[in-house]
Amino acid sequence: MISSKINQGLNGNPKIPGDKSISHRSIIIPSISKGVCEIKNYLKSDDVLNTLNAFKLMGVKIVEKEEKLIIEGNGLSSLKKPSKEIYLGNSGTSARLLTGLLATQNFESVLTGDSSLSSRPMKRITEPLAKMNAIIMSNNGKMPLIINGRELSNSEIDIKIPSAQIKSGVILAALNTKGITKIIEYNVTRDHTEIMLEAFDSDIKITNQNSLKIIEINGKKELQSKNIEVPSDLSSSAFFIVATLINENSKISLKNININPTRNGILIALERMGAKISYHNKKFLNNELVSDIEIISSNLIGCELDEDISKLMIDEYPILSIAACFASSPSIFRGLGELRVKESDRLNLIKVNLRKCGVNCKIVNDDLHIIPNDEYIINDKVIQTDFDHRIAMAFAVMGSKVGPLEISDSNSINTSFPNFLNEFNKIGGNIS
Ligand code: S3P
Repeated sequence: MISSKINQGLNGNPKIPGDKSISHRSIIIPSISKGVCEIKNYLKSDDVLNTLNAFKLMGVKIVEKEEKLIIEGNGLSSLKKPSKEIYLGNSGTSARLLTGLLATQNFESVLTGDSSLSSRPMKRITEPLAKMNAIIMSNNGKMPLIINGRELSNSEIDIKIPSAQIKSGVILAALNTKGITKIIEYNVTRDHTEIMLEAFDSDIKITNQNSLKIIEINGKKELQSKNIEVPSDLSSSAFFIVATLINENSKISLKNININPTRNGILIALERMGAKISYHNKKFLNNELVSDIEIISSNLIGCELDEDISKLMIDEYPILSIAACFASSPSIFRGLGELRVKESDRLNLIKVNLRKCGVNCKIVNDDLHIIPNDEYIINDKVIQTDFDHRIAMAFAVMGSKVGPLEISDSNSINTSFPNFLNEFNKIGGNIS
């Protein structure tokens, strides 16, 4: 894929697809609930389809009708042993959440993934589950995982790594475990699982003690299905938001974007950098905060962000780094260690590719420093993505300012935003 400079600005109303995190949960939770659920605006991307296929393989009745998914769930222990290995492609969310869920099902299952997913750490989910007596074999802490499903014991689980995937995997195990499982979360991470479970009548109690979040789940209570309308994805929106901010004469409006406060770090960061972003029609949709957002070209200034905000915007650093290249002063983003274990080593790829574009940047420990310039001289136009969708889209946005850039393995974009190229070109982008 080649992303070239644009002449006029970006203008219009790009259609942002359904939220990826909520789409995964909209398949997983109704599949183990009782009753029929209709899901509107779910994300039809490779990652989510892998979750969907996993549940079909485990006997859940799922059909698509007029762009909606209809899922007929039969309860917490209703899944059937899959006839083959469950392949989860590139999707870390599917892997961590399904590991927790399958640890309590009464059969053996095997989870596999593509080469990126097979190189990502899985001990972070298998270890807390082992505290509940789960039996899971791994390839030295990596996939494939062989899960020997059984009754688990309730326990008290500390979650110190900032990860909604780990928290959600343990919550899913706790739902089907007798007694109260107490989960202590040390960092704020996205809370879509808790929000959906509250709506599905689970016995979940959430309290805050100083900076800790305590989640108590009284297991074995059946969940009741509800219809879901998935809001649009803030992480996918971020590429359009930054592209609009950094290109002159640009103005776009985005509809129905999820701005859940455990996820909105990118908006806070960009506003600190002087971004002109306004919100309209704020409302709750299935207890998730959503808003229409209007963005116009802005003169950005650099900013320093500490580690705490990284947990509220972990997926957005690739595109935030692009914004920082067009600010009038340097930026430092601190505490980005978790970026090294995403779909690629994102921290390193941000640095490598920004340098290819002529940007002065460095990594010191886990901190990223970007020193912007008025003009960039490209020294290598071939962007290395290691099949990471967010690196590919971030550098497509970079191409709209400094291109042409050649984005390798750009079909990774299908994991989260299959229509990205069309939507970007529709508002004035120049990607071929
Ligand atoms: C996600 C959690 C985050 C995020 C990922 C989606 C989720 O991962 O990076 O894209 O849906 O729970 P971690 O839990 O590893 O931080």
